[in-house]
Amino acid sequence: MQLTTAQQEMLEGKLGLARKKSMEILYALGQIYGARRFIEVKSVQVAGVSYDNLGDAGLEFLSEMARDGRVQVLTTLNPAGMDLENWRALGISEAFAEKQKLVIEAFSRMGVRTTCTCTPYFVGNLPGLGDPIAWSESSAVCYANSVLGARTNREGGPSALAAALTGVTVEYGYHLDENRRPTVAVEVAHEMRDPIHFGALGQVLGKRLGNRVAYIKGIPAATVEQLKSLCASIATYGGAALFHLEGITPERVSEPETGLRVEAGEIEAAVRDMNDDAEVDFVAIGCPHCSLDELRTLAGLLRGKRVVRETWIAVARPVKDQADREGIVSTIEASGAKFAADTCFVVAPIRGRFRCMATNSAKSVFYARGKNRFKTVFAPLEKLVDIATRG
Ligand code: F3S
Repeated sequence: MQLTTAQQEMLEGKLGLARKKSMEILYALGQIYGARRFIEVKSVQVAGVSYDNLGDAGLEFLSEMARDGRVQVLTTLNPAGMDLENWRALGISEAFAEKQKLVIEAFSRMGVRTTCTCTPYFVGNLPGLGDPIAWSESSAVCYANSVLGARTNREGGPSALAAALTGVTVEYGYHLDENRRPTVAVEVAHEMRDPIHFGALGQVLGKRLGNRVAYIKGIPAATVEQLKSLCASIATYGGAALFHLEGITPERVSEPETGLRVEAGEIEAAVRDMNDDAEVDFVAIGCPHCSLDELRTLAGLLRGKRVVRETWIAVARPVKDQADREGIVSTIEASGAKFAADTCFVVAPIRGRFRCMATNSAKSVFYARGKNRFKTVFAPLEKLVDIATRG
């Protein structure tokens, strides 16, 4: 690989231990993928934040990097294993909280903005068309590539942190034009009238496409919330972290000749597949984290009602703060629903606490079943509120 003088110095340890280790990680990746050079990144999103996933070995690694490592570009953080303020109300143990706080402190010492969200694009990390970035968190990676037109591979936690500490990433994969071109056209023959259809479509496409980059037609318009749902789902059920949605993805590409159709029946079947016949004891909303608009809708639906099942709403803290200024937070909390800011239902240590989770996220269904062994109910927001408040 061609290295600049500064990159060579980092690799030799002349600019500190954290940058040496970081450059070693990136250099090894470059060798594996046959890359020719490093490129500067505009921003980084680091995953691998929950102590539930990191354990003591991960915490030790971060503490070591934090001794002299400082981020070189805007760097935001994925959800942690708990709400950093409200963790007691969510039943998190003291022992877990203590370790989780040490993880956050290590990131903070490195200059990482401890946003703790999988929707960095809602909290100021908003790259533009063609910007090279290094993001981990598959849903955000897919959103950055497909909705914003930025360029990132699906980084792991360590390689994203390495990019943050050096300011560069390896030029391969989705950073190269030839890997961003769509290879299969997809005609969606279904009216996407219900928001959960986007998550269901993601499941169908993820399974049918694998790693192929799709050029999707037949969806004339979509909201930010529908797009984040589609991105999360397609990246969960398949390997691709990029699609081109006709009329929405800003990148200019040509439509491929090879094509496939997604029939209405497939989407309905995906919805049925994500619904178990079981009694819900946990309602989980906000995967990926809720937008301000979703919180407004939720407040309208919950106003004057009481939840009778444990109900959590996952959100970025800055979005919750904004909602608080609009008086929405108190309306939602008055219903008995709990905010789970900074965290999510997949990385929080909740296995064994519930039996059946109701959600409007196809991604949550995948992990609730696979990681937490929950049964699932997959339904739109209005229905979730109905389930949460029905006696
Ligand atoms: Fe975000 Fe957790 Fe879902 S990281 S996309 S809320 S699984």
